Amino acid sequence: MNKTVMINGVLTSLEEAKISVMDHGMLYGNGIFEGIRIYNSKIFKLKEHIDRLYTSAELLGFEIDISKEQFIEDVIKTAKSANYKDAYIRITVSVQSYIDLSTPEYSINRVIILLDDDIIPEEKYAKGMSLVKIDRRRMPTVAIPMRAKTLNYLNSILALKDAHAKGGDDCVMLNTDNFVAETSASNIFYIKGNTLVTPHPDAGILVGITRNAVLDIGVMLGMETKEELFGIEDLLNADEVFLTGTAYEIMPIRQVYDQQFSIPGTKTSLIRKMFQEYIIEHAITF
Ligand SMILES: Cc1ncc(COP(=O)(O)O)c(C=O)c1O
Repeated sequence: MNKTVMINGVLTSLEEAKISVMDHGMLYGNGIFEGIRIYNSKIFKLKEHIDRLYTSAELLGFEIDISKEQFIEDVIKTAKSANYKDAYIRITVSVQSYIDLSTPEYSINRVIILLDDDIIPEEKYAKGMSLVKIDRRRMPTVAIPMRAKTLNYLNSILALKDAHAKGGDDCVMLNTDNFVAETSASNIFYIKGNTLVTPHPDAGILVGITRNAVLDIGVMLGMETKEELFGIEDLLNADEVFLTGTAYEIMPIRQVYDQQFSIPGTKTSLIRKMFQEYIIEHAITF
């Protein structure tokens, strides 16, 4: 059987992959992660994901014990070993120390897992998703830097539970200042006329790799692109709404609160189509 996991530089199988129970990721959520796609044996935006991983570590105040170049080599080695044509790469980096919260001395656990890709069926895109209103807010950056992709996803997990309890597919997560931030685990866009708008990073979002790609695509399509702070009314008055993320790519939204949108929206469809071409151009062979 192919070895599909690498732990601290050593290839192993999913069944045998183990890390210490004293890992601070497990004890306290003290760690970071990335999710990356392999499309047709090519890794999409690997450098950008690794850059974000190192930024997340910096925001959490710890240092990854190998260089970015070595990390990229490890991901490629694991991808070659797993040998999946289409796959999801999950990287987790956590701090290992002792039971104390403070970690004057620590080691790092680097885990790279390759999973056979579970591609979202086309019917889901055709149906689109609904976003409901919830009371829970996006955790403010003054508490935890939301630009970091940390192992503490409780805010998102609870928000998604709230959304499902209300019969929605997901929710709009407003920040504590009432600006639209994102959904439980994806970035949000709206289109009004020829303008493509997404929340500014100051709204307290994870700055998605797919989000940034879609902003590039908007420019290529001759749209005006804006990153700004906006409220729920702007979303409700939009022509089209969609989500972006590594798993979803570009997901049309058919309903926000009580407001319905006819899908597929013309511009969303065009952006989706362009994104497929963009993937081919921005993925590297391993
Ligand atoms: C909270 C949150 N926002 C946005 C995204 C989308 O980011 P990306 O496009 O890099 O996958 C994710 C992805 O997991 C996420 O967890």
